[in-house]
Amino acid sequence: MITRRHFLTAASSVAAVAFVALPKVASAATTNVTLMPAPATWPVMPNQQDTAVWAYNNSLPGPVLRLKQNDRLRAVLKNNLTQDTTIHWHGIRLPNAMDGVPGLTQKPVRPGASFTYDFACQDAGTFWYHPHAGNPEQVGRGLYGLLIVDEPNPPPVDRDVAWVLSDLRLNKDAQITPDFGNFMDLTHAGRLGNVALNNGKLVQPFAVTAGERIRLRLVNTANARIFDLRFSDHAPWIVALDGHPLETPLQLGPRDRVTLGPGMRADLIVDLTGNPATRYSVFDRDFQGREHRLTDLAYGDAPARASGSQDAPTLAANPVGAFDAAKAERLPLVLGGGMGVPYDLKVDGGAKLDMRQAWDRHRMAWSLNGEAMTEHSDHLGHNTLFSLKRGRSYLIEASNETSWPHPVHLHGHVFRVLTQPGKPWRDTVLLQPNEKAQLALVADNPGHWMLHCHILEHQAAGMMATVSVK
Ligand code: C2O
Ligand code: CU
Repeated sequence: MITRRHFLTAASSVAAVAFVALPKVASAATTNVTLMPAPATWPVMPNQQDTAVWAYNNSLPGPVLRLKQNDRLRAVLKNNLTQDTTIHWHGIRLPNAMDGVPGLTQKPVRPGASFTYDFACQDAGTFWYHPHAGNPEQVGRGLYGLLIVDEPNPPPVDRDVAWVLSDLRLNKDAQITPDFGNFMDLTHAGRLGNVALNNGKLVQPFAVTAGERIRLRLVNTANARIFDLRFSDHAPWIVALDGHPLETPLQLGPRDRVTLGPGMRADLIVDLTGNPATRYSVFDRDFQGREHRLTDLAYGDAPARASGSQDAPTLAANPVGAFDAAKAERLPLVLGGGMGVPYDLKVDGGAKLDMRQAWDRHRMAWSLNGEAMTEHSDHLGHNTLFSLKRGRSYLIEASNETSWPHPVHLHGHVFRVLTQPGKPWRDTVLLQPNEKAQLALVADNPGHWMLHCHILEHQAAGMMATVSVK
């Protein structure tokens, strides 16, 4: 006999594994899914052979997982790769044992083995998942997917769409170049691809209808590329960053950009106020400041929809802890290393090394507060940068003393960036060279958590540490 509960569970797992842009919201309290990372082939370049990738469930990106706020996700990871893996649920505030960091929160999942993740999603918003296997190759070959947690009352829009932005580095035969972890990538800007992707495809014009209002969820899953987007002749509102609503939506002026470092997300409300006779583009800007067209907003000939209200909705806040500014302890966080400025650093708490020794002996090039952590899991628990008391407030004073931008990500928590417009709550903050930021944090989730640069080559070359909350 199939009970209603069984039926809903089965139905929701089917919806979750099918590759559709945005599946239906599951009505069961638990969404079940099996995620199987494995070698696969995927069409990327037209008129060339398919690209050999690593993908979840033969799909790049992996399946969109979608549930309602406070529902549970029960995800079985079945490792069909030939190397260890895990899944990290980027931005989700969950129990430490579900965080997916090998050697820190769980054992690595061996080839052929399984691991079950099971947790409630207390925050609504746009999140994502990816391996946290200690090297940049798994994400760089295609392992990532979108995780959407719907508000109980989502804002009214005509369409809710996601752009999962990433890139690949392909050779002339449309195959991923195997040069992961080379000196240049590890010590400079990270592994930048030569082909940008949107939802796993070469970026195509985006079809829109005049008058419609869309919610556009932007996710940057690239290893290293920073997307820096400008919408010509449109004025989107940013309503949420990293899944967390802004207190007041921020409308972009004609020159304003949405900047997404690796790992970061933005939820936009875009009113399509253009017309079919005009070309409208979304421009990206690379790290050398050159602007190029990422895509067009392609207006169809369909009749304009009656456009609705002109103001953007404010989303209900997620349950964030109350920051106690008066009692907050200050924590300096200095980002160091990389090409451009000479540096000294300690590797795994050892003696100080200059940049040449750090690279020759350990393949380390970056540091947090002067220390580089290697990815060998036996060191993970031992290099605790900050030991925090549960429930206390902290003011992290971050300072980027390198010549490169770094998106710094903290697991298991959300912090408020006091130094940026709108004082957004975020799980990843992008610091430009010489930029400083103040991050207000309530350490309310016990456990050992990663703090690292989300340019995965920087992480692999030392820019990571752990934070303990007791
Ligand atoms: Cu998106 Cu430590 O991860
Ligand atoms: Cu970095």
